[in-house]
Amino acid sequence: MTHAIRVHEHGGPDVMRWETVDVPPPGPGEARVRHTAIGVNYIDVYFRTGLYTPPGLPFTPGMEAAGVVEAVGDGVTDVAVGDRVAYAAGPPGAYAEARVIAADRLVALPESISDEQAAGMMLKGLTAQYLLRRTYRVQPGDTVLVHAAAGGVGLIACQWAHHLGATVVGTVGSADKAALAQAHGCHYPVNYREEDFVERVREITGGAGVAAVYDSVGQDTFMGSLDCLRPMGTMASFGQSSGSVPPLDPGILAQKGSLFLTRPTLFTYMARREDLLASTAELFDVVARGAVRIEVNQRFALGDAAGAHRDLEGRRTTGSTILLP
Ligand SMILES: NC(=O)c1ccc[n+]([C@@H]2O[C@H](COP(=O)([O-])OP(=O)(O)OC[C@H]3O[C@@H](n4cnc5c(N)ncnc54)[C@H](OP(=O)(O)O)[C@@H]3O)[C@@H](O)[C@H]2O)c1
Repeated sequence: MTHAIRVHEHGGPDVMRWETVDVPPPGPGEARVRHTAIGVNYIDVYFRTGLYTPPGLPFTPGMEAAGVVEAVGDGVTDVAVGDRVAYAAGPPGAYAEARVIAADRLVALPESISDEQAAGMMLKGLTAQYLLRRTYRVQPGDTVLVHAAAGGVGLIACQWAHHLGATVVGTVGSADKAALAQAHGCHYPVNYREEDFVERVREITGGAGVAAVYDSVGQDTFMGSLDCLRPMGTMASFGQSSGSVPPLDPGILAQKGSLFLTRPTLFTYMARREDLLASTAELFDVVARGAVRIEVNQRFALGDAAGAHRDLEGRRTTGSTILLP
């Protein structure tokens, strides 16, 4: 008997129900994975509330997990039964003891990476990878701004940007989070509940502005983020934890200094398997060398996914949150 979280109607955390489900055998090109640890991400909240549309109702949330391959379908060559694997991929379905997923989305885990680390970093770490290495490729000597610097993506991005030789400014919602971000590569934590982060960035950069802003907070920070950029700087608006960003007149980008604005997603950047494998190799390398530490700071039983969502939305989490089957 396999258990999974299922959402029958959109709403608050309590719409996530613990139910028994049938997990079919894998079809051609698919693998069945028995999960050992599952990552919790803000995108799971968007699917639960209906901001993003799931494939249908009821559905099982979750796009990040680690586990063991227990069966493969015809034509699968990327993984074999018994392999330790992890993934960051759609469609949703990770909040389950086991699931079927396209085998070309799975990556084998090296011994240096534990299942809990993998579940805490596949989606968040690959996001940090593409943002810092591909969306705006951080150069030594750059100053960059990372919002929600003590969060899941934020804590990884601060360490990685620091490792790449950048000066990192990071916004956080409390003094404790400021200390945590600072201990993870953020040179200048700014509590944006108490301080004007635009003014602080201007001070820190001597008025020059930053090369790039990595903004996952959305509505509350978007316009301020544009004001933090140097001329021709890059605004990577990659999330909306505080609410969606309203429509924008592109003329604003001209007025504020010929800025580049992008709204990237992990799933575009990882669509080709060769990109997934190359990006994962980079991520595993910085983690194995200790340049980036994966801080799994919250663990919940899989059946208590609602508790994990309440804490994530309530800004009570730091680093990564995982569910344990
Ligand atoms: N586009 C992509 O490819 C991609 C991939 C992964 C994640 N994301 C996005 O990146 C963001 C971070 O994801 P995550 O899973 O790592 O979550 P997270 O950053 O750990 O959690 C969200 C954080 O946002 C901050 N926040 C600011 N205003 C908030 C509000 N009104 N309500 C709730 N939180 C607020 C909070 O930190 P403070 O208290 O410090 O403000 C909170 O801890 C999400 O927006 C997610 O959708 C995008």
